[in-house]
Amino acid sequence: LSSAPPLELGERYFQLYPEELDPVWGNPCDDPRHQKIWSRNKTCDQLPRFLVIGPQKTGTTALYTFLSIHPAISSNLPSPDTFEEIQFFNGKNYYKGLDWYMSFFPAGKNESLRFLFEKSATYFDGDLVPRRAHALLPKAELITILLSPARRAYSWYQHTRVHGDPVANNYTFHSVITASDTAPKPLRDLRNRCLNPGKYAQHLERWLSYYTPQQLHIIDGEQLRQNPVETLHELQRFLKITPAFNYSSHLRYDPKKGFFCQVTNEDHTKCLGKSKGRQYPPMDDKSYKLLQRYYLSHNTALVKLLKRLGSRTIPQWLKDDLTDTV
Ligand code: A3P
Repeated sequence: LSSAPPLELGERYFQLYPEELDPVWGNPCDDPRHQKIWSRNKTCDQLPRFLVIGPQKTGTTALYTFLSIHPAISSNLPSPDTFEEIQFFNGKNYYKGLDWYMSFFPAGKNESLRFLFEKSATYFDGDLVPRRAHALLPKAELITILLSPARRAYSWYQHTRVHGDPVANNYTFHSVITASDTAPKPLRDLRNRCLNPGKYAQHLERWLSYYTPQQLHIIDGEQLRQNPVETLHELQRFLKITPAFNYSSHLRYDPKKGFFCQVTNEDHTKCLGKSKGRQYPPMDDKSYKLLQRYYLSHNTALVKLLKRLGSRTIPQWLKDDLTDTV
């Protein structure tokens, strides 16, 4: 039996087990051996009970904002770089570790009784996210919002245009979604960000290979837009939050914005910023037809998945996207 200095030993270890180079954080309190060496000053409560996983452009900011009004629900503290989203389980932040993640959640005695949550809309389609999220939060509930993937793609295109993206400003939506694999990389990247998250069934199946169907709650994005009070009521029932908070006196339709907004007093509402619920021309018919065909197999798989999950109703947008696709 021989040994080596720590650094050399570490290098040797990772040569033998290269698959362990990429860390997967678990909860130290789930294992007595880990808990023993976990600092006394640390807690295991500073973790979310549920995750709003996206995808982007489906109404995730509206949901996040409305949930934050709830007296028994707390979100994470804002991030200096990515604002309301921590974006821990995808990308480079994951390597900042558990302490970094937990520092976003308020500590304190009463906080453990509260429903802590985190919303990062990029989680939905991140390849590694379900595995990482499950390693740390195996009991968490997952909330996703779905709306027509064609409309979602168009909303993302409009979003990047307003943010001054030169590709989105130089190419029409139709040329973005039809860009070939030999097109310049920035154009392919925009095409992929428009199209990939909308392959809903594929992404949901990945989440469901780690989490049980009982842990997943799907919100119809159209319902969230048109009837947030009822949507939030159903969500509270799913999360078993009692007594249920009645949103009807806290949210009101604002005709000027064209969306529901938070009631501040009898005459005033506070709506989401101008980047959410923007006015832009409707999608051209050619692009919509193309996307209906593009998403046909994905949407068909989604109908099957929803039925398997016990959904009694299929969202209207899904029926519409599946009609007249020839
Ligand atoms: P558009 O700006 O394309 O209309 P996200 O927050 O996930 O980026 O989603 C943005 C979308 O949320 C908006 O897309 C808008 O349609 C939708 N939305 C739903 N409810 C809303 C609300 N109450 N206020 C503003 N936008 C809302």
